[in-house]
Amino acid sequence: MKTIHYSSLGHGFPIVWIPGFPLTSAIFEPQLAIPGFRHIRLDLPGFGMTPGPPGKTSMSSYARDVFAVMDDAGVDRAVIAGFSMGGYVAMQMLRDAPRRFAALLLLDTRETPDTAEGKAARLQQAEEVRQYGTGGVVAAMLPKMVFREKSDAVRGIMERATPAGVIAALEAMADRPDSTTTLRQIEVPTLVVVGDRDTITPPADAERMAASIPGAELAPIAQAAHMAHFERPAQVNPLIAAFLMRHVIRNEHADTV
Ligand code: MLT
Repeated sequence: MKTIHYSSLGHGFPIVWIPGFPLTSAIFEPQLAIPGFRHIRLDLPGFGMTPGPPGKTSMSSYARDVFAVMDDAGVDRAVIAGFSMGGYVAMQMLRDAPRRFAALLLLDTRETPDTAEGKAARLQQAEEVRQYGTGGVVAAMLPKMVFREKSDAVRGIMERATPAGVIAALEAMADRPDSTTTLRQIEVPTLVVVGDRDTITPPADAERMAASIPGAELAPIAQAAHMAHFERPAQVNPLIAAFLMRHVIRNEHADTV
């Protein structure tokens, strides 16, 4: 069986944090400051401390990896938090096993698949990584991820991604299905967070997602690019904490009294 590296810190109701591309569990370091939760952070194959993948992968395969982490950690239901590509994985998990969600946090992501041009650009990028390594991907993405103040930290994380992990993720994202219908069927509390300066998955994507998910709440974050949760934790963490207190902690408590 594949070994997915993960860490579990803190005590309380579990939140499973799924990173974006080409990143690792380190991007959720600022969220460890949200008190009263068990934070489970994982590295997808080819990123951080998780080896592989041996070849092609897919959103379904990543979803199985996250479920395997939950099983290993003894977690049946959790708050699932997906940032960008991690959001694509969370949407696949919703199709596969919705009962394992207590709530959903969609962080700077989108439900629509790649356009034909987007797909072609991903496959071209994968080819470039095969030939020249991951430097081009890092250079192209970094300016869109965060403003300058946190740029070095993000560059350091991105530079550790393996070519195999990057190529497999690019191809998996190019192949990912449309999750529009999946969102309409969500039955758990959902918070959609977006940086007001996100150019990768802009606020219009978040607004559309929030409008199609029954009862969803939208949280625009001021002065933030794509990685709003990493760049502006002082804004994002209290919003997440208050949302989960209203929708998850009270209900879980009510279920047990
Ligand atoms: C990410 O941050 O995970 C990626 O930018 C997502 C994407 O390229 O679609």
